This record gives sequence, structure tokens and C-alpha cells, in this order.
Amino acid sequence: MAVKLNNFSFQSLPSVALLPARAQRSPKFSITSTIYSSSKGKAMSSGRAGEANVNVVRPMLPPKNDEIFKSMEDWVRSDILILLKPVEKSWQPHDFLPNPTSDGFIEQVNELRERAKDIPDDYFVVLVGDMIVEEALPSYHTLLGSSNIFYDETGCDNTPWATWARGWSAEENRHGDLLNKYLFLSGRVEMKQIEKTTQYLIGSGTDFGPRTSPSYLTIYTSFQERATFISHANTAKLAMKYGDKKLAQICGTIAADEKRHETAYTKIAGKFFELDPNEAIIAFSDLLRRKVSMPGHLMYDGNDENLFYHFSNVCSRIGVYTARDYVTILEHFVGTWNVEKLSGLSSEGREAQDYVGGLVQRLRSLEERAQARAKKAPAVPFSWISGREV
Ligand SMILES: [Fe+2]
Ligand SMILES: [Fe+2]
Repeated sequence: MAVKLNNFSFQSLPSVALLPARAQRSPKFSITSTIYSSSKGKAMSSGRAGEANVNVVRPMLPPKNDEIFKSMEDWVRSDILILLKPVEKSWQPHDFLPNPTSDGFIEQVNELRERAKDIPDDYFVVLVGDMIVEEALPSYHTLLGSSNIFYDETGCDNTPWATWARGWSAEENRHGDLLNKYLFLSGRVEMKQIEKTTQYLIGSGTDFGPRTSPSYLTIYTSFQERATFISHANTAKLAMKYGDKKLAQICGTIAADEKRHETAYTKIAGKFFELDPNEAIIAFSDLLRRKVSMPGHLMYDGNDENLFYHFSNVCSRIGVYTARDYVTILEHFVGTWNVEKLSGLSSEGREAQDYVGGLVQRLRSLEERAQARAKKAPAVPFSWISGREV
């Protein structure tokens, strides 16, 4: 298949051609960071929305491959669907928030606001960005449901694949809900600006990459779930440090869901490594060459044309998600899927294996520079916190 390379360098640590929402309004491009990473790049050549973020176009399987997915259905039922929690056993946002039907509601809200009062602005910027990424769930669900693996023709198909995608979305939906309600009650942020950002982001969509490749899609989602697990776990730790145990519990509870989801996607991707190691390693390499970008990378608030880049810098600066985390995640998956021991590969597969196997060391050597860059990045105003600079 055609390999289309856009005009950018792969040299810097987790930098990726990301297309801010503004690129849909203007021909200018910029390179910003990947999942919460920290390096700002140089201007790119022009193109259309979606183009810059897809530098490798290589469908690994025909658009539909029903037999493979069909043959895996029993395994999905027995090994994957058990990783969804029944609704009756699931937590709900209400469990962590003041109860509006109780007499003590106003006092509970005041206590929440009192606890939030002294938490620094940079923490709130990160929490808002995390929440907005969660709130753009409709885009992610659409992408899964229209992929050939999680395909959901009617919207209520009873295949285990479609059941997983809907169950996963239903669990994820609580994350944005909980953070949104918490932030609303905290009184620390500009809700209208946040709501605008969410609307822009859902309107812009997101770009997972080739959905015809089950390996690509599930490797991406494994990576992304582990990244969100790490970032929510770190916001929990910071909340503890700031003395807000209840907020720590909120973030920690969301992190635990992400971990469970990571387990599911990692198992599915692992299955593709077993079934077709050649296809899987080429997909992994394509994803990494393209860089793994956060699904919220098109975020825009109507003001800041580099909002995701600025948000990523703050994440890095306060230690919620850093260049080191990116490399550590990569290292984890290289080990989990036994990348270095895959055998029987084609020459293209072996080349991909060498690329992926050597990437951890290469990125490790650049990691400190990337973190230093994020630390040195100047403070910028965020509309989410009334234009204050962090
Ligand atoms: Fe989530
Ligand atoms: Fe998730």
C-alpha cells in the first residue's frame, strides 16, 4: 500500500504532527506534542485537516475481515467481556459528589470548595484538559463502532466486539461526567470556556489512524489507556499532596477503570501479535513513526490556537504526564508483546522489529532534553481559569 510521508522529522522525542483545530480554519500547520509531551516543533507544509496526522497509510487487512473476528468471538466473550463491570456493581459519579437530594447538600458543596480553594491553577488546567479529553467520548465511540474489528452495524449488534465497544464507552462516559460535575462545583474554573472547548473538540473529531488494521487500533488504544491510567493516577497523587483526599479518590477511581481497559486492549493486541506477528509489528512500527498522539489533540477553546501543546506542557511541568512516561509505556509494551523475540517475519517485519526494538534507547537519550524544554516553556494564559497564566 502507499506510504505517505508528510514533511516532518522523527528526531525529537514524542513530537508529532498534530493538527490544532485552527488548521481547519487556516492553511497554517504546526507540530505540537504527543500525549502530554513537551516539544514544540517547527511549522509544517500546508495540507488539509487530518492529513498531517496520518503520515503512514497502510491498511493491514481488507476493510472487512469477518472470519478472523468471528473466530475470536468465544475468546472475546470469555476473556475480554469479563473486564467490563456490571452496571449494578459500578461506581457512579454521584458516589463521589455532594448529594443534591440531601439536606446537607449546600454544606457538602462548601466543603468541596474549601478543599479546592488552595489547589494551584496549574493543577486545575491539567484536570480540565483531562476532563475535556474524556468528554469527547462520542468521537471515540464512533471510531470504534465503525472500525472493522468493533464494527456495530445496527448500533446494538450482539457480537461480543460491539458489546465491548458499547460497554467500554458506557464506563468511560462516567469519567467525563464525574470530573465535569466536580469542576463545576469547585468554583475554580470558567465552565463556559470549558464547555466551548468540549464542543469544538467533538466537532473536530479525532484521528486514531487506519481503522482497517485491528493491530494498529488496539495497540493505539492499549497505549492510550495506559497513558490515561498514568495521568489520572498522578493527578490523584497530587491531590493527596494538596490535602484533598476526596479529589484524590475521584482521580484514583478513574485511573483504576483505565487500568482495567488497558488490560483488555493489551490482551486483544497481544492476540493479534500471536495470530499475525508480521502484521502486528509493522502496525506497531507505523504507529510509533507517526507518534502516539492523545485523542484530544484537536482541542481548541476559541482563543488559543496551540491549546493542546500548552496543556501538554503544563502536564509535563507538574509531572502528570512527561516524556519519560511516554518512553516507559513504550518499553512496557515492547516487553509485553515480546517484540524482540518475534520470529518468522518478512523483511519489512524485521525492519519494523528493529525500529521498535531500538526506539526505547533512542528516546531515552532525548528524554531529559524534552522535559527541560517543557519546564522552560513560558507561562501562557488559559481561558479555562479566567485567563490567568500558568
Ligand atoms: Fe477515561
Ligand atoms: Fe480510557
